[in-house]
Amino acid sequence: MTESPSTPAMLNAAEQSLIYVVTRPEQVMVRGKGSYLWDANDNRYLDFIQGWAVNCLGHCSPVLVRAINKQAKQLVNGSPALLNDQMIEAANVLTANSCLDKVWFGNSGAEVNEGAVKLARKYGAERLNGAYEIITTNNSFHGRTLGMMSASGKAGWDKLFEPKVPGFVHVDFNDLEATRAAVTDRTCAIMLEPIQGEAGVYVATQEYMSGLRKLCDEKGILLILDEIQTGIGRTGKLFGYENYEVEPDIMTLGKGLGGGFPVAAFLAKNNVCVFEAGDQGGTYGGQPLAMTAAHTVVNHMIDKKIPDRARRRGNSLKRKLRKLGKETGLTNIRGSGLLVAVDLPNDMGASVVAHAFDHGLLINAPKPNALRFMPALTVSNAEVDEMLDILRGALASVS
Ligand SMILES: Cc1ncc(COP(=O)(O)O)c(C=O)c1O
Repeated sequence: MTESPSTPAMLNAAEQSLIYVVTRPEQVMVRGKGSYLWDANDNRYLDFIQGWAVNCLGHCSPVLVRAINKQAKQLVNGSPALLNDQMIEAANVLTANSCLDKVWFGNSGAEVNEGAVKLARKYGAERLNGAYEIITTNNSFHGRTLGMMSASGKAGWDKLFEPKVPGFVHVDFNDLEATRAAVTDRTCAIMLEPIQGEAGVYVATQEYMSGLRKLCDEKGILLILDEIQTGIGRTGKLFGYENYEVEPDIMTLGKGLGGGFPVAAFLAKNNVCVFEAGDQGGTYGGQPLAMTAAHTVVNHMIDKKIPDRARRRGNSLKRKLRKLGKETGLTNIRGSGLLVAVDLPNDMGASVVAHAFDHGLLINAPKPNALRFMPALTVSNAEVDEMLDILRGALASVS
């Protein structure tokens, strides 16, 4: 790929002024359209990461850009202490199209997961004799605040930033009996992702999800679904729980909700809404631009039946990966809708990702021996085929 004079200056500025938290490629991204991103040197990348499963309508979706532009001329920021019309519309579209009754808006997945945990703890304090513990799953990912790092079951995190926030108990994902055994008088909720995305795309079984709902009903405790990665059409339904016909008491959303604009939410059934004034808040929660993004994305997704399209496209991607797998040793092709992963023959993930990047493709390796695909839900068949061609080349070259 070519190099332009602008890049070294940008890299220098980045190194001097950004706190180091991750090693990034040297290319600096400057624009995007649909399934493609361009760097400062005008190199094009086919994007099967899409901001980490965020840009559900692709980069700079015209419908989203138009709506944000229009709203920016009307009201950018009102006040968290005042209602605004966009907030009401966003709340209405989410509650009218889900099994939940009420919503609170925040800015990031970790923030709304914290809110969901606070709501469950308050419910436990008031309705369950002070129960406060939340059962979560090993290898889960719920965000990077201290609370959510404590809730998550990510390997290695148990040793980081001690001391942990107490009150989280971890059990194996898809292990109903272990979950049942972990419930005590202190338990107020069970919290999980319907698909463990960051762990490598592991899908909850129907038996497990139905069993968890039954267990929560039996014990009078709450089921919290973290749908930050699985919500908003990603799994082929508007919300992941619809794949199971199992309703959560609390659900969290982020990522795809704003189609690239930062916004997140937790939703709850009426009987769980025990917050009083002052229990929850945030300067930007319900901010009009973010609310416009949210209701525009969700309405567009419903009008254009995009979840259904994602399900069909995802099935076709999995079929094609199985075929490629026969040639190249990919196994365990899994996932739902357009959240898909495969296992590699060995720990070649980082090399495959790097080779693909050099050849204009963005994919992710959630584990050393796995690849994850999370393209725009509007990705075309031709773009899927282009991705597979580059991937085939990367696998051949690396192995
Ligand atoms: C399931 C899940 N929960 C929570 C989060 C954290 O969201 P955020 O990075 O917006 O705080 C993520 C992010 O990857 C996620 O996948």
